[in-house]
Parts: sequence; C-alpha cells; structure tokens
Amino acid sequence: MEMKTKIREKFKSLYKTEGEVFASAGRINLIGEHTDYNGGYVFPGAIDCGIMVEIKPNGTDKVKAFSLDYDEYVEFGLTEEDKPQQHWPRYIFGVCREIIKRGGKVEGFDCAFAGDVPLGAGLSSSAALESAFAFALNELFNGGTIDKFELAKIGQSTEHNYCGVKCGIMDQFASIFGKKGCLIRLNCKTLEHKYFPFDPQGYKVVLIDSCVKHELASSAYNKRRESCENAVAAIRKNHPDVEFLSDAKRVWLEEVREEIPEEDFLRAEYVIGEVQRVLDVCDALERGDYETVGEMMYQTHFGMSKLYEVSCPELDFLNKLARKCDVTGSRVMGGGFGGCTINLVKEELYDKFIEAVKEKFPAEFGHDVKIYDVVISDGARKVE
Ligand code: GLA
Repeated sequence: MEMKTKIREKFKSLYKTEGEVFASAGRINLIGEHTDYNGGYVFPGAIDCGIMVEIKPNGTDKVKAFSLDYDEYVEFGLTEEDKPQQHWPRYIFGVCREIIKRGGKVEGFDCAFAGDVPLGAGLSSSAALESAFAFALNELFNGGTIDKFELAKIGQSTEHNYCGVKCGIMDQFASIFGKKGCLIRLNCKTLEHKYFPFDPQGYKVVLIDSCVKHELASSAYNKRRESCENAVAAIRKNHPDVEFLSDAKRVWLEEVREEIPEEDFLRAEYVIGEVQRVLDVCDALERGDYETVGEMMYQTHFGMSKLYEVSCPELDFLNKLARKCDVTGSRVMGGGFGGCTINLVKEELYDKFIEAVKEKFPAEFGHDVKIYDVVISDGARKVE
C-alpha cells in the first residue's frame, strides 16, 4: 500500500478526523563532506525518499504522535520539562521547542508519520523528519511566516540541543531547499546557494549501502568537529581573520603542525583539501568533465578514510572494488562510520559493477548490500 494511504488510515483510526499531509526528503551529497561545520561548500540534493506526516492541531497543549515505522504512540507537552525519553519523539519535540524559542507558535497537535529513507544509511532520515515537521508546523501555526533558512536552522538546532549531534547545516538545508533534478552548491558560511541541474549524460549515480551502522557515530562525529576547532584556534594565533578551517591555507596549517596533536592536524588537512575539491568539482561540472568529478570523489574517499578516519573496512572495500570495476567516481557519503558509498558509473559499466558488488561483498563480510538508484527530487512541501 502507498505510504500516504497507510498514514491516512492510521491517522483516521487514531484521531477520528483528517489532517493535512506534508513531506520532506532525505539527501545525497556529491562532494563536500564535513565541510559544512567548517564554513566550506557542500553539494547536496534532496532525493525521492523521505518522511511523510499527517498532522492537525488538536486544541490542547499536548502533542500526540504515532510512528508507523516503530509502531509506537507517544504523548508529550511543549515545555522544556516535557522532553520525551524515547529517541524518535525527541526530534519532533526539539523542532517544536526550537520554533517556540524563536518566538514562533506551536500548540498541541495530532500526527502520524512514516518514512522510506533507509535508517542509518547516511541519507539523513533525521533531517527529513525535522524538516517535515518544521515545514508543517510553520504552515499550521505560523501562517508560513518563518523563512526557509530559519526552518533549516530549526532542524539543525534540534540535533544540537535535543539529539546530541553537533552537525552542520547541509542535511536540513538540502531537505528544505531541495529541487527536482538539481544539486545545490551551498556556501555554509553565508548560506548563499546555487542550483545546478544535474543529469550526467551517459552516467548513473548509484548508492551502495554497506548496511553497517556505527553505534558511537554521534560522539565520534562531535570529536571530529572538536579537532577542527582546535586546529582553527592554533592557526588563528598567526592569522586572526581565520574563523573557520575553510578560511585557512594549507601552509598556515603547516605552521602549527608541531603545536597541535597529530590527529587534529590530519583532520584539518583533510578539510582544507575537501573545501578545494568542491570548487574543483563545480568547475569540472560546468565543463561536463565527469572524469575529474570522479577523480575528486576518489580523493575524498582517501581523505575520509586515512586522514579524517570516518570510513570502515566495508566502505573501503566497496571503494576499492569500484576502482577495479572502472567506476568513474566512488566515495563514502555523509558523516561516515558506515552507511553508503556514492558512485558515478558509466551506464555501460553499471550492470557489471552491481553484479561484482553483489557477489564479492557478501563473500567478504557475510551479509548483503543494498542498492539505491538516485533520483533528485523536491524537498519539504505540502502534499495534495
Ligand atoms: C552529517 C551531518 C552533516 C555533515 C555530514 C558530513 O550528515 O549531519 O551536517 O557534516 O555528516 O558531511
């Protein structure tokens, strides 16, 4: 049954009424990983899977929420003391609180939601959840007056303040601003952005999900961010204008090599390289030069694996296998520590590559991968 029909049936049986339906999307990112919280560029796009929610104000001060995927019903209030214990309701609660903190209005509502973004695959199911609710609550209680930039920040602050992840803005931005057929080149310092129609003729973009989930991913993520901040603090002593790593030159990092732990140096070295790679990829895309795009993707993988250390044996294996199969570009996507590789593959090599992955990966790791073809789609919206 279609997701929307399932949600509607559940909503009606729970609340004996009908609400409005909203949706938001997961995301991919062509290149620019861990650059967002370093003030650099990212290059994401929304995808054709996400979160859908039916929702209606209920005239009380309580939120009543049902997750179809977890088959779980929860009620909570809207003051800080009402913070729910369970994992998924925290995202909804956080979004409500962040709107209220900014002077927006949220009152009690009934809702039921479901998603088709694979969880833990690095496709930002949590940003999709935050963005769907931020968008819906803006429409229902604030007459759409909160602008889209603020909606993205509401999702990001939810992660920071209610879910323990000090993430950047990329995922929420893509989920809110996503546009069918387009990638978004986003400057994460200024939020200036440009849509790039993305339809590489003769190529396919495919995600291979290693199905590996890292338990401690959020604390490891926050630790990477601290390393970057340490490196910035050291560089700033010589170059006071440096606010983010994206402002720093490679030679400025060299100057402080002996002053910072080696680990922090390596993290910063990766970020400075990655900031440049996004720009190189933009230039290459404008020339239609997909060979260069692909080569940059491999370089990103190397950096994420050896310098930033957010890969894992399964992802490294998939990356190597892609090289062997002459795939144009391949790299770990998203925060890392498991999840997917993103691959840019010539159409004529696609079948052979997928076949090789399906045969060789399970032989090595004892479990299957999942394959997702990428369709770039719209972000947050009302569903008619
Ligand atoms: C996660 C975070 C993003 C970004 C990526 C890595 O998806 O939520 O803000 O930092 O990791 O690029």
